[in-house]
Amino acid sequence: MRTLVGEIVNKEGEKAELMGWVAVRRDHGKIIFIDLRDRSGICQLVFIGKDKELYEKASQLRSEWVIRVVGQVNKRPENLVNPNLATGKQEVLVEELEVLNEAETPAFDLATDGYEISEEVRMEYRYLDLRRERLQRNLRMRSRGLKLIMDFLNERGFIYVETPILGKSTPEGARDYLVPSRLHQGKFYALPQSPQQYKQLLMVAGLERYFQIARCFRDEDTRGDRQPEFTQLDLEMSFTNEEEVMRLIEEMLVYLAENLVPEKKLAQKPFPRMTHKEAMEKYNSDKPDLRKSELGIMNNELGFVWITDFPLLEYSETEKKLVATHHPFTHPKEEDIEKLDSDPKSVRARAYDIVLNGFEIGGGSIRIHKPDLQEKMFEVLGLSKEKTEADFGHLLKAFRHGAPPHGGIALGLDRLFAILSGEPNIREVTAFPKTGDGRDLLMNAPSEASKEQLKELNIEIRKKKKD
Ligand code: AMO
Repeated sequence: MRTLVGEIVNKEGEKAELMGWVAVRRDHGKIIFIDLRDRSGICQLVFIGKDKELYEKASQLRSEWVIRVVGQVNKRPENLVNPNLATGKQEVLVEELEVLNEAETPAFDLATDGYEISEEVRMEYRYLDLRRERLQRNLRMRSRGLKLIMDFLNERGFIYVETPILGKSTPEGARDYLVPSRLHQGKFYALPQSPQQYKQLLMVAGLERYFQIARCFRDEDTRGDRQPEFTQLDLEMSFTNEEEVMRLIEEMLVYLAENLVPEKKLAQKPFPRMTHKEAMEKYNSDKPDLRKSELGIMNNELGFVWITDFPLLEYSETEKKLVATHHPFTHPKEEDIEKLDSDPKSVRARAYDIVLNGFEIGGGSIRIHKPDLQEKMFEVLGLSKEKTEADFGHLLKAFRHGAPPHGGIALGLDRLFAILSGEPNIREVTAFPKTGDGRDLLMNAPSEASKEQLKELNIEIRKKKKD
């Protein structure tokens, strides 16, 4: 039966069968040491010259070969104890060696933290890159974090619902990814920028408390904190208000931080709150960094802050018109509704963002649930009656069938876990991220479609005209 290398600490004097990768081989004349790595860590294997055949086989081993060994777990002599290794007090004297697979020489060193290696190479060999301890740690932390979040919300009556990936465009301010339909030629699905409309429809459907670890797709330029596809903790509640949503999320974030990163300290609890106006006046930013400590020890501080009272609308220079600051389903403040026509820019939204260490890690709002007000909102945004009907008729219809008051929020999980892991970039907590220009270098995507595929879709690719 297989023993994990981390378990040898409890097996002194016993035989163990281990399987994993050769991390390092060191030859010392009559003795060969191998650092064997598996998911639990690293341990030292020892081959001595007495058994010539075994020793000869061990001398062939190279980095990243996959092996199985059987051997005796021994206590290391006092002077050879490695205090930096969890298994540093033991070693395994190998009696049997089987090579399960050989490996090409890796393109880069796996023993370092990997920041020094060019991204192109790391992404091309991501399966090797992911073997390094830092990335293993990040993915494990993310997995534990997801479990904590799921447990927390399940205990509070939230129901996990999966919503479609092939859907209809929902405006979140970015460009859509479109998927051509084969059965309905000339028509396209849009990948969700978020499950926003579906989660509101689930409130109309009477679920009252929904959540999902939702994949979102936005065709926008990639940055350190932005990927074309990313993951949200998406959540919606009925018969609620700002206070209840913010309290729930605050409680969840504190629970997450205390259980996942107990070494980190919250800068302030309860989380401070400020209006958008205050944040802009005081910090000239709607995502201020409220950590207290000086640079250097910053890594261990978590500065959460709520930003509230965003303007409902803002003027878009590119579109040359008013657009929704969050999205068009956000409820205006009751007392500002009368200014929607006369002074739309002064109308405040029932919206809130949660900011951590200077990054927006989430945003949400109380929604419009009355069809008349939603129609009014589309009108203020300059949508014609026809366009409103074509794009959002389904939502307005749903609102005419007994829509409860509702609201919610979505957290950017990649950003949240990057900060909790102390990483500067969300790619470090994403298993297979895209490069800065949106490519997957491992699978080589995007790639060309075959002639047959295009024919089925009745799509023709035109060569770009040269200027
Ligand atoms: P919003 O658009 O603010 O709200 O998104 C919520 C959170 O998702 C994260 N985020 C991203 N993370 C990585 N890469 C991206 N390209 C990216 N874009 C956004 C951010 C952001 O705060 N449907 C609404 C939520 C709601 O109203 O309930 C929404 O998606 O951390």
